[in-house]
Amino acid sequence: MNGILLREDLGPDVVRLRVSAAKIARKAKAGQFVILRVREDGERFPLTIADCDPGGGTIDLIFQVVGKSTALLAGMDRGEAILDLVGPLGLPTEIERYGCVLCVGGGIGVAPLYPIAKALKAAGNVVVAVLGARSKNLLILENEFCAVADEVRVATDDGTYGRKGFVTDAIADLLAEGRKFDRAWAIGPVPMMRAATAGASAAGIPTLVSLNPIMVDGTGMCGGCRVIVGGQVKFACVDGPEFPGDQVDFDSLARRLGTYRDRERRDHEACRIGLNRK
Ligand SMILES: Cc1cc2nc3c(=O)[nH]c(=O)nc-3n(C[C@H](O)[C@H](O)[C@H](O)COP(=O)(O)OP(=O)(O)OC[C@H]3O[C@@H](n4cnc5c(N)ncnc54)[C@H](O)[C@@H]3O)c2cc1C
Ligand code: FES
Repeated sequence: MNGILLREDLGPDVVRLRVSAAKIARKAKAGQFVILRVREDGERFPLTIADCDPGGGTIDLIFQVVGKSTALLAGMDRGEAILDLVGPLGLPTEIERYGCVLCVGGGIGVAPLYPIAKALKAAGNVVVAVLGARSKNLLILENEFCAVADEVRVATDDGTYGRKGFVTDAIADLLAEGRKFDRAWAIGPVPMMRAATAGASAAGIPTLVSLNPIMVDGTGMCGGCRVIVGGQVKFACVDGPEFPGDQVDFDSLARRLGTYRDRERRDHEACRIGLNRK
């Protein structure tokens, strides 16, 4: 059983769950994810393994409540159990000693970035992190990043904390200071990954992004997670989720992510009403 051992609110609508999952914790590597189902009639959806403790047999999931399934998961508490949890899935991040690396996370994208930054540091890299959020109260995992990175810069859209502006402005600051990076990772909303890739690539920094298309089976069978990379069709669940940002067709990704928007909105609304009546 995938029992919930800890539930913590990290911010408005952002929750961390520590879940008992010994086999997954033993095998999980940075960049991998699980697919889960909260209850019998629930949909399958992916979440990144944000941290894991192989000795203790636990994994951490950090997620934002954006719709019905994430709302149901956020409604669970310590002592309850997640019905199905499959993983670790996806290709792990290629962790090497690159030199100086730039890790850029926006919004909830900071959570999937964390295990990557941690592994890059453990491999001997100098890690510079740029974390972004719309406002100070939405910034997550700053302390965790301070513990693993050599330098952490923060940007908030409204200027309530750190630099006022987007993470791309903070990247531009670093480059203007003459800082050199051997590789970059950018994880967050599609427009942010697109813009961060453009900024870093223009400075000649190979940039990896982690794509978030709709996933169902997570095994390359259903085709739900089709993305176009380098002009070729790839399945993010088995060929990714990480890809070179300068080769990703972000327009088609954004279009596909919007396919079920109206239906998702209706389901979320109905779910919220249901949870409030409980
Ligand atoms: C590899 C991967 C790792 C992810 N890791 C995280 C994470 O660590 N933390 C986090 O908060 N979110 C993560 N996501 C996104 C997360 O899966 C969606 O937020 C979640 O599925 C939304 O479901 P919902 O029913 O609550 O919302 P819905 O109302 O159903 O959908 C809201 C939006 O979520 C996305 N979404 C919906 N269903 C799926 C699905 N089956 N697969 C993928 N995306 C979907 C779509 O963009 C959709 O428009 C990840 C996605 C992928 C592909
Ligand atoms: S989720 Fe089905 S092919 Fe990737």
